[in-house]
Amino acid sequence: MSELIDNFQRRIRYVRISVTDRCDFRCVYCMSEQMTFLPRDEVLSIEELTQVAQAFTELGVEKIRLTGGEPLVRRGIDQLVHNIGQLDGLRDFTMTTNGAQLRRYARQLREGGMTRLNISLDSLQYDRFNKLTRTGNLDKVMDGIRAAREAGFERIKLNTVVLKGRNEDEVLDLVDFARREGVDISFIEEMPLGDVSDHGRDETFFSSDDVRGRIEQRYPLLPSTEDSLGPSRYYRMADSDSRIGFISPHTHNFCDSCNRVRVTAEGRLLLCLGNEHSTDLREVLRNHPGEMEPLKERIRDAMALKPHRHHFTTDGDVQVVRFMNMTGG
Ligand code: GTP
Ligand code: 5AD
Ligand code: SF4
Repeated sequence: MSELIDNFQRRIRYVRISVTDRCDFRCVYCMSEQMTFLPRDEVLSIEELTQVAQAFTELGVEKIRLTGGEPLVRRGIDQLVHNIGQLDGLRDFTMTTNGAQLRRYARQLREGGMTRLNISLDSLQYDRFNKLTRTGNLDKVMDGIRAAREAGFERIKLNTVVLKGRNEDEVLDLVDFARREGVDISFIEEMPLGDVSDHGRDETFFSSDDVRGRIEQRYPLLPSTEDSLGPSRYYRMADSDSRIGFISPHTHNFCDSCNRVRVTAEGRLLLCLGNEHSTDLREVLRNHPGEMEPLKERIRDAMALKPHRHHFTTDGDVQVVRFMNMTGG
């Protein structure tokens, strides 16, 4: 059995594949207002994306997440989901989406073999949601969450990036919303990717411990042993099935147990979110169309490039110039 293991003895079991850098939202922490996007011929085709997913599953990867930008604005996404859903060896097939197109796609995703969904939701208040996402529509996201529930996913998780002075006072409202909807929720510390200087990152940092303190004023949290293979630390509440996760790249670094790599929309295999170490898969895909071995060899060789950890700080400096929408987080 083939396995991917890096120089720090970490086994790579989780691949995040970005299917487009485009998005219908412009979240303040993710993009700047004026973005330019990749020309279409530089983005991997649906066939190439399928081949990448297949190569990784043949190398022992058990979890694939499709990301963007916004994956549901990518033409052919339904076909891609269907193709990946057929691959052997996947234990978990999932997507991170802003939720706005789920009314149209949720059922197709589920029928294509997707097991779970993560949906970003930073505020339940219209004026704030509009400010944070710039071009988002809260009603469409709410309807998308409903559509996802109707489609019968095994688990749905909300993602909230917590920002001081912008949404940190909504933590309990968001927990109550997740409980009512019967979904999980993860609270995320913002990461310094891309120059989003119009947003002022140095002033908005809010730690996971402070989020947790607010939640525990109402709901005592019990550690959960469940492992989603992702970076979240999970807790349960005594009287609800909803789980609460914390993703804390600043205050509880999780790099030692990292099990993931990313593929950007242009086919760059990126070994760490917080660094630039990468290798070009698109070149191999286009020089050896349809061939699995050269692709798998390139992926295997790249494991030696995976760095030990990221070095994010919260002082507002950009540590990685690449914007978040290139990798989908
Ligand atoms: P689950 O499978 O539900 O645990 O999801 P996930 O947390 O793996 O994926 P999701 O796309 O929901 O990402 C949530 C947040 O975690 C995003 O802000 C990602 O950028 C962040 N994240 C995921 N993996 C890493 C990682 O390796 N390093 C860092 N620093 N952040 C990560
Ligand atoms: N820091 C932390 N999380 C981010 N996301 C996007 N940009 C950032 C950032 N700078 C989140 C999105 C989405 C997930 C993929 O990553 O809100 O939920
Ligand atoms: Fe789009 Fe997601 Fe970035 Fe928001 S965080 S702009 S929804 S890619």
